[in-house]
Amino acid sequence: MILVVDFGAQYSRLIARRVRECKVYSEIIPFNAPIDEIVARAPKGLILSGGPASVYVDNAPACDPRIFELGIPILGICYGMQFMAHALGGEIAHTGLSEYGQTDVSLESASLLFKALPPEQTVWMSHRDSVVEVPVGFRKTASSACTKVAAMEDPDRGLFGIQFHPEVVHTPAGMDILKNFLYEGCGCLPTWTSVSMIEDAVAAIKVQAGDEPVICGLSGGVDSAVAALLVHKAIGDKLTCVFVDHGLLRKEEAGQVENTFRKHFRINLIHIKAVDRFLDKLKGVIDPEKKRKIIGHEFIRVFEEVASEMQDVKLLVQGTLYPDVIESGTRDAAKIKTHHNVGGIPLDMQFKLIEPLRLLFKDEVRAVGEELGLPEEIVWRQPFPGPGLAVRIIGEVTADRLELLREADDIVAEEIKRAGLYRAIWQSFAVLPAEIKSVGVMGDARTYGSTIAIRAVSSEDAMTADWVRLPYDVLARISNRIMNEVPGVNRVVYDISSKPPSTIEWE
Ligand code: XMP
Repeated sequence: MILVVDFGAQYSRLIARRVRECKVYSEIIPFNAPIDEIVARAPKGLILSGGPASVYVDNAPACDPRIFELGIPILGICYGMQFMAHALGGEIAHTGLSEYGQTDVSLESASLLFKALPPEQTVWMSHRDSVVEVPVGFRKTASSACTKVAAMEDPDRGLFGIQFHPEVVHTPAGMDILKNFLYEGCGCLPTWTSVSMIEDAVAAIKVQAGDEPVICGLSGGVDSAVAALLVHKAIGDKLTCVFVDHGLLRKEEAGQVENTFRKHFRINLIHIKAVDRFLDKLKGVIDPEKKRKIIGHEFIRVFEEVASEMQDVKLLVQGTLYPDVIESGTRDAAKIKTHHNVGGIPLDMQFKLIEPLRLLFKDEVRAVGEELGLPEEIVWRQPFPGPGLAVRIIGEVTADRLELLREADDIVAEEIKRAGLYRAIWQSFAVLPAEIKSVGVMGDARTYGSTIAIRAVSSEDAMTADWVRLPYDVLARISNRIMNEVPGVNRVVYDISSKPPSTIEWE
């Protein structure tokens, strides 16, 4: 295992993902984690991430410098390298020569980190400060026109620093450099694969669940489906899946989920139809946070009822992913939204949680899903929020508005699929800003109708996102069809906001 020490970098997560892509398990810890915790986790190597600060400013993020005496190989990236140099007696300076973007560097191929790489490389730089004097015991192993020390190493102590970012795609040899550090520097083996993830998860579930019955909320998305299959692999028929139709699903979704699941798997499945119950609770509610809380609470109440009708089930499976875990664990993130599978859980909930995906990123969940034989329509389904269309109707949720949004959303999905874009896009959907009415003209008559907004975003893990530059002809087809086929709509707009400052869902 490799620990990525997070100094507040944009890229810490990406570093952890890249290490995992090298088939070595990695986790992120905050820079101020106590050294005892690092030692207790027994990592085979540490990677110090970049960060926005300069080592010389007051309160610059610093980890315990005794990490350099642990005998564990360490790779410092950007700020991480500067921190290493500073802590070990080297010199950092603000040379006035910033480097941003792709930069040519000369590497010393005799270095462990650059073993077997051509000496001239293009790398991605993003820094103002530079190491100008390496610490005693180190030697310089790369340089660029502006940066005298673009890389340094002390192989005897297993300490390496690079000023550039190997984790981004703009550093073509980045993965080779990481592999050299992991395999040659730390002695890791590339054994973290979908198969080993499944084995580890199944073993852990067996221990956690023992002989007890377990229920799992199934949403139709890849996360809950993979979580359910892992638990089923571990405890077989002791698992019952519960699919709650809260009436906030997309067109024909409830039937599709049930069919797919029954067709492909022999897992106990209960389908609860609770449409009226949720709509009643949502009557008159406009505030997004209230909607989310109501739906989250109601969900758990439904599960509790199912559980008590069974044989007093105490364990509930959830598809929480690693990004959710690090967000709550390492940062004082402001609460933006109450996610229904995280913050929307009532405090008096009766269940203990089993979260078999809490160490995985979305792409790893998909790989595990494929390994487990999940059909493509589930593995590659775009994410859909737990509170469903309720957070895509801006204003009160009513049966009529749901019907209208469902039809519009279905057209978006159909056209995106027809254009062959569905898999490449993180999410694409329709939003109904229900309080907006505007004037139009149809067949020589005035209309006063609803607006539909189209949202399509690209993203790696939903933390940041950009709006997709959909081809105009696709947008035109979506707009024409919605206006012709969905009664009551006389205007279609395209949402061109990225996250941040917007979020993906409108509520
Ligand atoms: P935002 O809107 O915060 O969404 O940019 C980020 C990602 O999370 C999804 N999302 C949710 N997923 N329960 C979920 O399971 C929720 O309450 C929830 N709210 C948002 C959203 O679709 C996007 O993929």
